Amino acid sequence: MRSSDTPRSSAVRESSDAREPSRARGSSGARKAHDVLVVGGGVIGLVTAWRAARRGLRTAVVDPEPGGGAARVAAGMLAAVTELHYGEETLLGLNLASAARYPAFVAELEEATGLDVGYRACGTLAVALDADDRAHLRELHALQTRCGLASEWLSGRECRRLEPMLAPGVRGGLRVDGDHQVDPRRLAAALVVACERAGVVFHRALAERLTVRGDRARGAVLAGGEELEAGQTVLAAGSLSGRFAGVPDEVLPPVRPVKGQVLRLRVPAAYAPFLSRTVRAVVRGSHVYLVPRENGELVVGATSEELGWDTTVTAGGVYELLRDAHELVPGITELPLTETLAGLRPGSPDNAPLLGPTALPGLHLATGHYRNGVLLTPVTGDALAEALTTGALPDEARPFTPRRFSPAPPVRQEQPA
Ligand code: GLY
Repeated sequence: MRSSDTPRSSAVRESSDAREPSRARGSSGARKAHDVLVVGGGVIGLVTAWRAARRGLRTAVVDPEPGGGAARVAAGMLAAVTELHYGEETLLGLNLASAARYPAFVAELEEATGLDVGYRACGTLAVALDADDRAHLRELHALQTRCGLASEWLSGRECRRLEPMLAPGVRGGLRVDGDHQVDPRRLAAALVVACERAGVVFHRALAERLTVRGDRARGAVLAGGEELEAGQTVLAAGSLSGRFAGVPDEVLPPVRPVKGQVLRLRVPAAYAPFLSRTVRAVVRGSHVYLVPRENGELVVGATSEELGWDTTVTAGGVYELLRDAHELVPGITELPLTETLAGLRPGSPDNAPLLGPTALPGLHLATGHYRNGVLLTPVTGDALAEALTTGALPDEARPFTPRRFSPAPPVRQEQPA
């Protein structure tokens, strides 16, 4: 385990700062105290820390490998419109708010770090391969239209005119020019640098459990026994948030892992442009998408498997993704396969995130983003920064309070007089 608070740049503040609000002595004897401790250094934890630090809060992140997590696997589609589902209209509002913030968010992050995060305003084409798929897509189109979203129905021929590598059998599709992409690995790397430059302290270690004293969250204990004290703690540990030790049952987030296997291929220069936008479909009930990056990477995803903590890449998973992607775009079998990986989406009971204060004073959640973690990164950072500084969520994030899953308070029995 590396020393957790070794300054990695001159901008990193040391926790022995004279402004320390309070202090705790861990088994190592070291004293660490922060205004905000973020448990989890994936894109959600990092954006929370960056935004909190920019508001003047002394912030730390605890994670053995900041910049890892589900975003290392994710394709990075910003698919508010093409991933719309019945019953998720409230989530749609948050997704659209975050998608709208992306250009300014990326500009700010790139300005702060000098790093390119691979944001590409390329649009998306969702296509149908048979009559069932076409019926499904027609229903999606009707829902999108009812929700006032921009989405245009195209014939198969029109789809192929846009994307000549599509299979001749494509029956029709939806052109959604507002669903873009970002490279989640670059996004995570940039957020690490942005955090460092904003003075966030990184504790590169495993957080073992939440500390609760006097009915209040007080920080976390690391695997080596060291204690980090904080005025406010944010649990942003993705699917692991649902089993973080020390969190009282009433506020433990109902988050579960949902496995996604993803492939990466490379489009040789001679084949470019292979696809000009994200292409996706539902094939035999499973979602498949192909996300072409400007640097020649082509990401193909994703399985959706309820297998607990398993992250094995299986022959069956790879086979099904390649089979379905090949039905959409037959030419992909010519491309070099460069990587196979599986990650865990943090699923929640309503597929929406849990954001902001919990019923336990001092404990906030930023987890449960399920299929939308990368998309929801900007709005999550803003919402948590607001909650950490004012105690209240901004309007757009209020429906996603963790309290919606808290058990109802006990009904008082009227006592006879
Ligand atoms: N949003 C894409 C996925 O979760 O696979």
